[in-house]
Amino acid sequence: MKNVLITGGAGFIGFNLTKRLIDCGYSVTILDNLSKKIHPSNIRYDKLKEITRFIIGDVCSRADWEKAISNQDVIIHLAAETGTGQSMYDIHNYTNINVGGTALMLDVLTNSKNSVKKIILSSSRAVYGEGMYKCKEQGVVFPPSRNYEDLKDAKYDFISQRSKSKLIPLPTKENSHILPTSIYALTKYNQEQILLLAANNLNIDVAILRYQNVFGPGQSLSNPYTGILSIFSTRILNGNDIEIYEDGMQTRDFVYIDDVVSATVLVLEKSNLKSQVYNVGSGKPITVLKVAQKLKDLYNTKTSITISNKYRKGDIRHNLADLSLIKQELGFVNAFSFDRGLLNFVKWVQKQDIQDDMYDYSILEMIQKGIMK
Ligand SMILES: NC(=O)c1ccc[n+]([C@@H]2O[C@H](COP(=O)([O-])OP(=O)(O)OC[C@H]3O[C@@H](n4cnc5c(N)ncnc54)[C@H](O)[C@@H]3O)[C@@H](O)[C@H]2O)c1
Repeated sequence: MKNVLITGGAGFIGFNLTKRLIDCGYSVTILDNLSKKIHPSNIRYDKLKEITRFIIGDVCSRADWEKAISNQDVIIHLAAETGTGQSMYDIHNYTNINVGGTALMLDVLTNSKNSVKKIILSSSRAVYGEGMYKCKEQGVVFPPSRNYEDLKDAKYDFISQRSKSKLIPLPTKENSHILPTSIYALTKYNQEQILLLAANNLNIDVAILRYQNVFGPGQSLSNPYTGILSIFSTRILNGNDIEIYEDGMQTRDFVYIDDVVSATVLVLEKSNLKSQVYNVGSGKPITVLKVAQKLKDLYNTKTSITISNKYRKGDIRHNLADLSLIKQELGFVNAFSFDRGLLNFVKWVQKQDIQDDMYDYSILEMIQKGIMK
């Protein structure tokens, strides 16, 4: 299985994955529309067109899919709109690209001759919503989306109605409840469902990777809608201060890009996959406040970090992956600690052109749309 099509191959994960696959001897085709939000310049395209067959095209175009799938053994479907907050008001666009693009891929595969034997979909931990928690009295619980009245009163954590104590976040397993809290999350889950159902008919192997918060070199520094490490970095390098939502104690599971690429390659090279879903993360939580402080230290700046107590609709409180399945079945190991990955990321950012800081613009947009309070 040497011919691999990567949609969204010019993006953060796609670019790093493409480099690894080329090193491993794969022949890579990329289908990417070079979205201006992610690619303000053609630097990525200029690099990739030398080492891949690069089709500038859209996952919403049947003709582009037909061109791209010819002679492919595997499709790694990464192309997507990815901003949680933005998805709450750019609903049609997110649904069209994420769900419509996936549906079109499967329609083309169903209705035209092709040699595709495996599809790997980049899904997201976002499908779990708030994820798995422990209640002292009830045991494992899956709280629904947080209540805006509570958020307004700065009550960010879940309190058990029974024990009146804080629920404790647990590593979330693949078979946990699916409770999306944003349109983005819902589109990722819809992608999974359409793929599982249609691929079963097509007799194509499927793997779904639910990535946690991926970070590292190659991350878009110009997209103000997603990727807190790059948003904070672009703020710092423009001499702007950092604003932290809620109380800064919300946690995320940050996984380094090389580990994400390794997990994806393990899945690519595994035979007889039967519609398997895997979490890909680090399994270690870190608060958003701690992340901002570490970045400030590494850039060695006087940036002030303010806890604003603002909140965005659709945001979750904590996320943490249970990685037992991917470790047991594929032998996945995390090679990078957060600190080691962060150092690599910061060194890489310092070699890039400083991007315009579009953060204030994105916040204004979210306030106007009622997403940010
Ligand atoms: N980065 C993360 O933390 C993370 C976490 C969970 C899931 N994911 C998923 O992984 C995938 C890749 O994420 P990423 O961080 O590399 O994103 P990215 O934004 O860096 O890359 C996405 C790429 O897709 C392209 N694209 C967007 N719309 C397109 C369209 N209509 N047609 C063709 N190409 C299009 C963009 O030009 C870009 O190159 C996405 O599906 C995302 O939902 C990412």
